[in-house]
Amino acid sequence: MLEAAGFGELRAWRRAQREQGRRVGFVPTMGYLHDGHLSLVDRARAESDVAVVSIFVNPLQFGPGEDLARYPRNLERDRALARERGVGMLFVPTVEAMYPPDSEVRVSAGPTAARWEGAARPGHFDGVLTVVAKLFHLVEPDVACFGQKDIQQVTLVRRMVRDLDWPVRIDVAPTTREADGLAMSSRNVYLDAEARRQALGLSRALFRARDAFAAGERSAAAVKALVHETLTLHPGIAADYIAVVEPEGLNPVNQLESGTVVAVAGRVGPTRLIDNVILGAE
Ligand code: PAJ
Repeated sequence: MLEAAGFGELRAWRRAQREQGRRVGFVPTMGYLHDGHLSLVDRARAESDVAVVSIFVNPLQFGPGEDLARYPRNLERDRALARERGVGMLFVPTVEAMYPPDSEVRVSAGPTAARWEGAARPGHFDGVLTVVAKLFHLVEPDVACFGQKDIQQVTLVRRMVRDLDWPVRIDVAPTTREADGLAMSSRNVYLDAEARRQALGLSRALFRARDAFAAGERSAAAVKALVHETLTLHPGIAADYIAVVEPEGLNPVNQLESGTVVAVAGRVGPTRLIDNVILGAE
């Protein structure tokens, strides 16, 4: 596995891949890799000739008072996991290189960024799209893999690529879960045993929604009520939203169909967690 921190080094490597006719698959991450990240690496490898993983804790997507300073980091462990998983190039840029003091232009996400996660985290998706835009220009991937767990992020990256005409295919991987259902997340390390027990309410609520749909329920209001009821059984969760939406623009729907997304967000203590299911797909 090669590793680059400098842009010149990465670009030279990218040029060589193109000259050799090798297709590049890309997995952008903020590190502290878990099995969810690694499932994206598997997909990137399956869909290209060589996988690039970036590790960059992007300050632009953290709001004031969020967890930027304490976001978990362990580059040595990440490096070993990436190497084991067959990553061809690990790109680990510095904050100074990504955002020199005179950098000022940012990507502005559209109205789809204003609701759900965007409503709770103003500016978050401008930060995400800005760094993804920069990384796409540095890596020039043929395909880039993202996780369904961050479904609004997927929707917005797809829109950016569509609206700005970038020749990259966006691949979406299902959510990797712990054995008990909790969606894997780098932020799960913040949870102590009791908080983790409470956090399980999110996936339980979503599984109830999924099961109700499978059993024939087609009312969004009924499913929302079910999710709400399950969340209230977990008093440690301060629910933020329960969204029952269509997958393209994340607009609320009244009638459920195959492909409808049920997404939840909540805080367990200071830790904000999100999860979702796609009805009829899992
Ligand atoms: P991060 O949270 O590190 O996630 C990197 C990628 O892994 C994202 O595409 C995310 O959706 C995916 N992922 C996270 N948990 C997952 C799980 N349990 N199963 C499957 N995939 C999972 O998302 C980001 O970083 C950043 O916003 C980034 C896109 C890197 C821009 O800074």
